Amino acid sequence: MDISKRAEQINMILEDHLPKPPYSQGSIEDAMNYSVMSGGKRLRGIMLLEAFRLYNSDKDLEKNLAWPFAASMEFIHAYSLVHDDLPSMDNDMYRRGKLTTHAKYGHAMGVLTGDALLNYAFETMTQAASKLSKVRGEIAAELALRACRAMSVISQKAGFSGMIGGQVMDVCPQSPEEEPVSGKTVNTPASADRSDLTGHIFKIYELKTSRLFQAAMCAGAILAGADDSQIDALNDAGYFIGEAFQIRDDILDATATFEQLGKDIGSDEKNNKNTIAHLLGIEKAQQLVGEYLDKARAIFNEQPGNKEFFNELIDFLRLREN
Ligand code: IPE
Ligand code: IPE
Ligand code: MG
Ligand code: MG
Ligand code: MG
Repeated sequence: MDISKRAEQINMILEDHLPKPPYSQGSIEDAMNYSVMSGGKRLRGIMLLEAFRLYNSDKDLEKNLAWPFAASMEFIHAYSLVHDDLPSMDNDMYRRGKLTTHAKYGHAMGVLTGDALLNYAFETMTQAASKLSKVRGEIAAELALRACRAMSVISQKAGFSGMIGGQVMDVCPQSPEEEPVSGKTVNTPASADRSDLTGHIFKIYELKTSRLFQAAMCAGAILAGADDSQIDALNDAGYFIGEAFQIRDDILDATATFEQLGKDIGSDEKNNKNTIAHLLGIEKAQQLVGEYLDKARAIFNEQPGNKEFFNELIDFLRLREN
């Protein structure tokens, strides 16, 4: 099954978990559906499921627990995009080839739709966990604990010290002197420029982008019953993937067409964002994408189970065009 087939599966899971029609045009349910079902690569949902599948082949558990968590990762990601596009943030009008949520429904609904999707993610996860513990009586306590741990990781990595913290650093820039780079858990590639400013930008990427990839893969592994060293390994892989993903996003923002991306191009320049692509040049930035991805690949290849998907994913991320 290739990445696009997996994205179709996530779309099916999302349809199944979103509030069901009928709802009126312009309602919060309408705006939630619009924001989630407007397209997207579905990488975070896919990665949660694939991390689960690395360590567990129980299809019933996958359907009842990993599927709703995969949908929830996409709800959280969609909320982060809806808010990222707001006039007070990146002020963008197009996303996934369509008007952004605030451009279509108005500013207040943009804020509220993001809020609703974030809450709905936790509603979806807690409902799945409580239903499962009824049908799986014999291991209910163990599964409830796994679900709780997965939600704890997701909420922390998406929260103030994770993705939101990164968005704060991104939209309210402070100079690196005021905001020292600290707490990096994994090394950057040897060839990365370690000046204060680039180090500061790698830290922003670690928070705003890597954290949701880490959340997806750690949650998948936790739900599957992986051990702590396996969860830590996927956490590191998610860090590397996020850095590579955001650097490639910067390159595309500067070099791709609107038709290709489906979102406003030149958004970083418009907002005077310092990006790795801008600071180091496209060629050096693309070299770093490759180096970060090689580090992620090495981690996947040490894991048990079938690593074919993750190798395919790494190849896709290296040169993705949207
Ligand atoms: C966009 O993420 C936000 C970034 C972290 C750069 P994606 O490129 O995964 O967005 P969709 O879901 O495919 O639209
Ligand atoms: C956003 O980064 C990352 C989020 C946490 C949403 P960008 O602002 O570069 O993402 P795009 O380019 O708008 O998708
Ligand atoms: Mg942004
Ligand atoms: Mg943006
Ligand atoms: Mg961008």
